[in-house]
Parts: sequence; structure tokens; C-alpha cells
Amino acid sequence: MKHTRLVLIAVLTMMFSWSVRADEGMWLPSLISQRIADMQEKGFKLEAEDIYSINQASLKDAVVLFGRGCTGELISPEGLLLTNHHCGYAQIQKHSSVEHDYLKDGFWAMNRSEELPNPGLSVSFLERMEDVTDKVLEGYEPGMTEDQRVWIVRENSNALISEATKEGKGLRATVEALYYGNQYFLFVYRQYEDVRLVGAPPSSIGKFGGDTDNWMWPRHTGDFSMFRIYADKDNNPAPYSKDNVPYKPKKYFHISTGGVREGDFTFIYGFPGRTQEYVHSEAVRYIEETGDPQKIHLRTLRLNIMNKYQAESQKVRIQYSSKNANVANAWKKWQGEVKGIRKMNTVRNKQDFESAFKRWASGGEFDGVVEKIEDIYKRLEPYSYAVDYLNETVTATELPKFATEIAGCYMIGLDNLVGFDQEKAAGLIDAFYKDYHLPIDKEVFIAMMNEYEKNMPEDFKPQYYKDKYAEFGSIEAWAEHIYSNSIFTDEQKVRELDAEDMQIVLGDPATEFLSAFGLWYSTEILPVTRKLNQELQLAYRDYMRGQMVYCRTQRIPKDFYPDANLTLRVAYGHVKGYSPADGTYYLPSSTITGIMEKDNPEVFDYNIPQRLRDIYAEKDYGRWTDENGNIPVCFIATNHTTGGNSGSPVINADGNLIGVNFDRVWEGTMSDIVFDPDICRNISLDIRYVLFIIDKVADADHLLEEMTLVD
Ligand code: ARG
Ligand code: ASP
Repeated sequence: MKHTRLVLIAVLTMMFSWSVRADEGMWLPSLISQRIADMQEKGFKLEAEDIYSINQASLKDAVVLFGRGCTGELISPEGLLLTNHHCGYAQIQKHSSVEHDYLKDGFWAMNRSEELPNPGLSVSFLERMEDVTDKVLEGYEPGMTEDQRVWIVRENSNALISEATKEGKGLRATVEALYYGNQYFLFVYRQYEDVRLVGAPPSSIGKFGGDTDNWMWPRHTGDFSMFRIYADKDNNPAPYSKDNVPYKPKKYFHISTGGVREGDFTFIYGFPGRTQEYVHSEAVRYIEETGDPQKIHLRTLRLNIMNKYQAESQKVRIQYSSKNANVANAWKKWQGEVKGIRKMNTVRNKQDFESAFKRWASGGEFDGVVEKIEDIYKRLEPYSYAVDYLNETVTATELPKFATEIAGCYMIGLDNLVGFDQEKAAGLIDAFYKDYHLPIDKEVFIAMMNEYEKNMPEDFKPQYYKDKYAEFGSIEAWAEHIYSNSIFTDEQKVRELDAEDMQIVLGDPATEFLSAFGLWYSTEILPVTRKLNQELQLAYRDYMRGQMVYCRTQRIPKDFYPDANLTLRVAYGHVKGYSPADGTYYLPSSTITGIMEKDNPEVFDYNIPQRLRDIYAEKDYGRWTDENGNIPVCFIATNHTTGGNSGSPVINADGNLIGVNFDRVWEGTMSDIVFDPDICRNISLDIRYVLFIIDKVADADHLLEEMTLVD
């Protein structure tokens, strides 16, 4: 009796330590039964089958991969979809012109016929996922070479993919390696291609705070936009047609207007893009000491140039707004990431773990694995540096990139006659010159290539570069040559190009610049990095498995989840404030009061629409207020998210929608590498703010009528 008692206590303590463990992790939906007890203990009231099921409609059927790297969710029985403003940004911009500036003024379709098609945009539902490790590795014998293994994996995967997509419209499938190829999963999706823009608030709401507030808390951004999925008469995927009808989802989210309080359970269902939680300390050291700081430095120079010209001209400000936002987004994230890695002593902690692992592994199956990884990183590092540098300098210039794209419009037929894809070229030309300002590009070229000259080791400079540098004597003189002589600086001449002009295009100094670097990269760099990365992959496969065995046998409490790879995942946690620094504590939610505090007609990022000021003055809030009679705007929680989770549904204990995920707090952006439950927070839009904007600012009540609201 006493004995069983002791065992019971031991089990309970284990469960207890389990339940207080960090909210870290991005879990596979089909294996969620392994986590459901923990989720329920933290407050979730539904079952694993409600999250993922292949037998009945489940929440997974209301979540989509939106475009190439965002998440969206279904919120009505008529295919209405919610995602972020920054996820729909490109579509909103494409429909915008000086007469209809939907970025500036917002857009609301007042009926179905006003919804705007978006060729090229698609959404994918996950039909099912399946562990196919045995099938993928069929025919593989230990002792085979890595090349043979790669070949076998590819052949078996292709067979599985064709089998899975044989029947049914719009099916596509992928086989993904998890845990560095220790496990393989088949993912079968149904992809819809007729996705129309339904609504977006003006950027002064949807992008409120701009890059100043990006990655920051407290936040007041109304980062949402709405689309509708269309299908053929049988509810199947079909290309755009005016005969298509709104898609009828198997499942859509009911929306809770009951609000969010500190401590509430939250669950994020979406498509996180990339994390690297199990990497060796050397990989983190490189990011912390070299990779991130170099990239930050180069982007600071680039952003300073853009900002200077953007401040001088309204036209240039608009032209470079999206480019600037893209450059600034990662630039700011990397800074937070480096700080976070340092603060958490990640390199040191990983080194300690590796030392202990090595001692444990000595003489066993995993002996030498860590050393092997160290050795590969040593050989890889100069190449990683060269690639990082190339990406942030040479390919950061605009004219050369455009020139090679135009060069790509030439096609040589079997008869050796040259063709020119006029239509493709026309599209590229329109897009390029609309948003091009030569003085910025030239100054960026000079700044970036001077850094390149200074910081790239001689044996990593292509002969082409050395010759040009010798010929012109300085980067400035070389830039002068390119930007005065390239035909691509003259829009009119470029518009007149045809099949006869291939030699002009190929011999152009801008084309030559990028293609010379490209050739050097593919002959001198890529073969080496490809080989080293393959070695690394193999070593990591062992190290990953080794880490699991080590932690299990040494009773080190650690729950393993596969790194993010843009497949559907569940993250769960709770609403919680945080203390980013000594003496500072942040509350977990923000309200419209904060918008008014930031409001400033003089500052572009904080200049809200007059409509919102009027509503605030009259407190005309409708039914969307919190318990203090205020309009809630954003909240933070401990869910583990990353890029790609933007637009993800934030779900409460009852399985209802309470928010839309869109960002993380700056101090916690190291969560792609190491997660700190005290600091890492995802930022979501409170669904009541979305409803408030639709109701009071957009006057689009017809959309509210489609939704199912619950208290
Ligand atoms: N930081 C968020 C993410 O990584 C939002 C980015 C878009 N907003 C912006 N101001 N650039 O995607
Ligand atoms: N803002 C990111 C996205 O667009 C989300 C994140 O990195 O937390 O996916």
C-alpha cells in the first residue's frame, strides 16, 4: 500500500512538472491525442477528434494555408475567410490605383459581385496527413550511401504523391521530412484557386504603427483582411469563373464575443514556416556573432538610403513602402533575435548540453556525432558567410535583378530562332518602373558593393568582380558605368525590346553584373555547400535521434516536437503579460485608448482615419466593448509561433475564434531557435476589434450576418 502510494506521488509530481512546463511546441494535429490531456488540463474543453479527424468535420477543415506563407480561417458557411492585412497586402496593392487607393482608403465589397478576383492566389485545406516513414524508406538498407538514400526517398515519395492525388479535383500532396529525416509524413491538400478580396481596412488601421510598432508590444494594429473562396457548382476547386459559387466549408469557426482575460487558454492552429530548435551551438554562434550582425549592418545602410529619399518625396515614399517594409521586417527581427539568444546564454547552454551528450555517447551508437557536426560547420562557415553576404549585397540591387528577369524572357527554339515573351516582359516592365527610383538603387549599389569589397575575403570574390574593380578603380566609378550605360535605365527603350535584341540585353552591364555572380555562385559555391549540407543533414539525423534517446534515458524532461516546416501545427498556451526588462511589466491586452494616445496626424504611421476619431469621441462602440466599456484591440499569449503563423486563428477553450495571430514581441523573437516561456509572446488581434471595424468603420453589416457569433 505504502509502495503504491509512493509510486502514485511520483507519477503525480511527474504530471505536475509536465503541466507547468513551458508552452513551447508546435504539435502535429494528427498526433494531438498525445497532447490532449495537457491541453485539457490547461483549460481546453474539446477532444482530439475535434481538432483533427479524418472521419468527421474538425477544426482543421476551417484552417487554410493562405498564399505562399500565411494562414487563414473560414468564418462563415459561405466561404468567408479571415487573414492578416499584411498577408493580403500584395492583393490589396494590386487592385489599387491613384483613383482607387485601397491601401490608403480600405476596400469593402458591398455585395458578392463587387468581390475582386486574384489570379495567382490560392488557399489549401489539409485533407489528411499520415506517417509514411516505412513506405518512404522501403528499399533502404543501412550501409547504403546518402546519395542512394536521397534517391530512394525521392522515388518512394513521388509514388506516394501520385497515389494520393490520383482521384479528386485540386488535390496536391507533399512528403515532408520531420526530425531531420527520422520521420516522414505525407500531407494531402485540396487547393482552391478562386479566392476573391472581400474587404480590408485602410492601412492607417490595418498597418497602424507601421514599422515603428512592428514586432513590438504594446500594439494597436488592426492587421486583418477578408477574402472569399469560390468553388464550382459541386463545391470543387476550379479556376476563376464568374459562374463559380461561394465555397461551402466542412467546418467554419464560430466567433466568441465573450472576450479575453489574462490566464485564458489559447490555441493557435496554423502553418508555421521554419524553426531550428535542435541545432548545434556552432549554428547559433554563427547567427549571433556573424550572420545576424552582418545582415543587420547591411540592411541599416540600405534602409537609411531608402528612408532619406522617401522622406524627400511623397511619390518615392509610396513606391518604396512595400520594399522598405520587407527589408525592415527581418532587419528588426534579427536584432531582437540576437538580443534574445544572448540574454538566454543559448550558445553556452547548448555547449554544456553537447559536452554532457558527448560523455554519454562515448563508446555507443552516437559516439562522434557532435564532433562531426562541429567539423562540418567549420568547413561550411566561410561559405555561409559568402552566401549571406551575396544575398544582402549583390542581389539587393534592383536594376541588375530586373535586367536578368528581362533576359529570362528570351527563349531559344530548337531551330535556334530566338523568341521573346512580350507579355511576360510587359508585366515585368509595368511592375518594375512603377516602383523604381534610380538614385536609391545606385546609392544602394555603391554602399553594398563597398561593404562587399571591404568584408568579403579575396578568395571568395569572383574573377569577374576583381577584373571590374581593377578596370574601374572604385565601386563608384563602376556604378557610374552601369547606371549610365545600361539600357534598363531607359523605360522607353526597354518597352521597345524585341526578339532581335537578345545580344543587347545579354551584353548589358546590369545583366552581366548579376549573371556573372550567378554563374560563379552555381559553379564555385553551390556544389560545395550542397555537399556539406548533405553531410550535415546526415549527421543531424543521428544527432536528433541521439538527443531523444539521451533525454529519455537520462530522464531529462524534454518534450520533442518537429521543427516547423510550413505544415499545419497546433500551439497552445494562455493569455499572459510579460516583463521585458527590469522594472517593466506589460499587461496582456491593449484598447482603443492606446490608439488615441498614439494618434498623430503629423506622423504617417500614427495618422488614423477621422472616422475612428469621431467614433471615439462619441463612444459609438456598439456591442463590441470589453467589461470596462472600451474597445479591445490586441492581446498577447504564450503560444509558440513563427513566420507563417500570421493570420492563424486564435481559439479559446470552447473551440471558438477569439482572435487572429499576426506577430510576436521583439524580446521573444529568438523563439525560432530557443523558446523562453517568460518572454516569448505571440501577438493577436482581438476578434472584437475586427467586428467593430466591420460594423462601425466599414458599415459592412452584411458580413456580420454571415457569421455565427456566440457569447
Ligand atoms: N512582423 C510581422 C511578420 O513577421 C508583420 C510584418 C508586416 N508588417 C510590417 N510593418 N512590415 O510578418
Ligand atoms: N508576422 C509573422 C508572419 O507574417 C508572424 C511571426 O513571425 O510571428 O507570419
